[in-house]
Amino acid sequence: MKKRKIKIFDTTLRDGEQSPGASMSITQKVEMAMMLESMGVDRIEAGFPVSSEVQFRAVEEISRKVKNATIVSLARCVKGDIDAAYEAMKEAEDKMLHLFIATSPIHRKYKLGMSKKEILKAIGENIRYAKYYFDKIEFSPEDATRTERDFLFEVIDVAIRSGATIINIPDTVGYTIPEEFSELIKSIVRNIPKISEIDLSVHCHNDLGLAVANSLAAVSSGATQVEVTVNGIGERAGNCSLEEFVMAINVRKDYLPFITNIKTEKLYNSSKLLESLTGLIIPRNKPVVGENAFLHEAGIHQHGVINNRNTYEIIKPEQVGRGTENLVLGRHSGKHSFKEKLKHYNIKLSQEQFNKAFSKFQKIADKKKEVCDEDIFLIISSILGQYPDGYKLDYFDVKTGNSAPPSAKVRIKKGKDKRMSTNTGNGPIDAVFNAIDSAIGIKTKLENYIIHGVGAGRDAQGQVKVVLKIGENRYAGRGDSTDIIEASANAYINAINRYNFSLEAAKVIRKNNRMKKIKEVS
Ligand code: KIV
Ligand code: ZN
Repeated sequence: MKKRKIKIFDTTLRDGEQSPGASMSITQKVEMAMMLESMGVDRIEAGFPVSSEVQFRAVEEISRKVKNATIVSLARCVKGDIDAAYEAMKEAEDKMLHLFIATSPIHRKYKLGMSKKEILKAIGENIRYAKYYFDKIEFSPEDATRTERDFLFEVIDVAIRSGATIINIPDTVGYTIPEEFSELIKSIVRNIPKISEIDLSVHCHNDLGLAVANSLAAVSSGATQVEVTVNGIGERAGNCSLEEFVMAINVRKDYLPFITNIKTEKLYNSSKLLESLTGLIIPRNKPVVGENAFLHEAGIHQHGVINNRNTYEIIKPEQVGRGTENLVLGRHSGKHSFKEKLKHYNIKLSQEQFNKAFSKFQKIADKKKEVCDEDIFLIISSILGQYPDGYKLDYFDVKTGNSAPPSAKVRIKKGKDKRMSTNTGNGPIDAVFNAIDSAIGIKTKLENYIIHGVGAGRDAQGQVKVVLKIGENRYAGRGDSTDIIEASANAYINAINRYNFSLEAAKVIRKNNRMKKIKEVS
């Protein structure tokens, strides 16, 4: 049977990053983009450049570094969005614009306040405008699955006639079910003959847990591209999971005559890397990449697996990159072994980043007997998530117990500036946070605090994630250490640094806009 190629469009860095608490720094995004490139993803949606300076700069940097995948930027049907996307992707070897506007009755009425006619006009005008900059344009009618069928056809027709080269059908709210979605895709293929000359893509959300099933139904009905995210992260319940979709095609070759470019042996590493970059923990029972996915507990199952793995395993762990190499590093491992480990995971660091990572590794190896792969990912994630010019925890001392209020003394460093402060709190972590606040002179509201042990054993590292509300906005921060109070302090400071970084970025935007105006006037 001849197999049809399905393009994998990864939106981990755009829709995925819209997951609550998933935001990444620019360097973390670049690292993830390079992992996606090495995994064989066809298209990488790197961000929504007009939405913030950080998004813009991340897309710019990814466009410079990634050469073996098409770089995609999201834009509304607004000229300023298209301009920003073009500016951000100027240096990309192969670039594509992803333009969208909502089309369903509920979005037209309550979100856009636009008539059908106005929407058709906006689509036509903006695609034609974007055509000056881009050869490849993907157009998405947002909430397509709740859009009237005849209007959806009209929208697709206008988009293609105006120059769209890919039509993407988003199930924005994860509402459709496989049979219905399959019928929708077939009806598009039947009613829009020109669709056979371009790509027909789908973008499924997981609100009913059907994103992968709907995407599979769509490719069987004629879709040629699927939009996915690593670990299925994304708005609300997430998007179609890359690893689940790819492995379904891989395992059920007999039923699904498709191929993708994905190197499946990289699936596990990319999943673990994203987990440590975002701090979004993979559920143990997650298919393909969860900790339990290849564990067999019941005696009868174990017996079967010992005799023949196929009794209870439909995927070989090695196929997805699990259990092939687990070279554990330790106190005696030198720079060479550490470098080899990074090479194995395709992690590329600058010399400065490497030195920092290695010295962090040595500190951890001094405290732990074995440094496992999860520890390595954590080290890399924290190096990439640091703000070199930000605040650092230089020293801390905490007293706690049940006889006196917990108190903390901290010294915070920024460049040559060192500030000391002491404070109390309801518990040792609250006391440290209060001491940091008074040292830096900031007021925050702690909205979320999560702690998670990475790896096994009593000497496992603690990874802490916090979300702080500072002023009107929220800032996520992450920290890790074998000492959970230090991990908490690092996460807290990381969030404050993120806040300061966005203030700095906003100043740069204002300055650039002023310069632009001066140039336009002169
Ligand atoms: O879910 C959605 O509709 C989207 C669009 C921007 C494609 O993410
Ligand atoms: Zn989406």
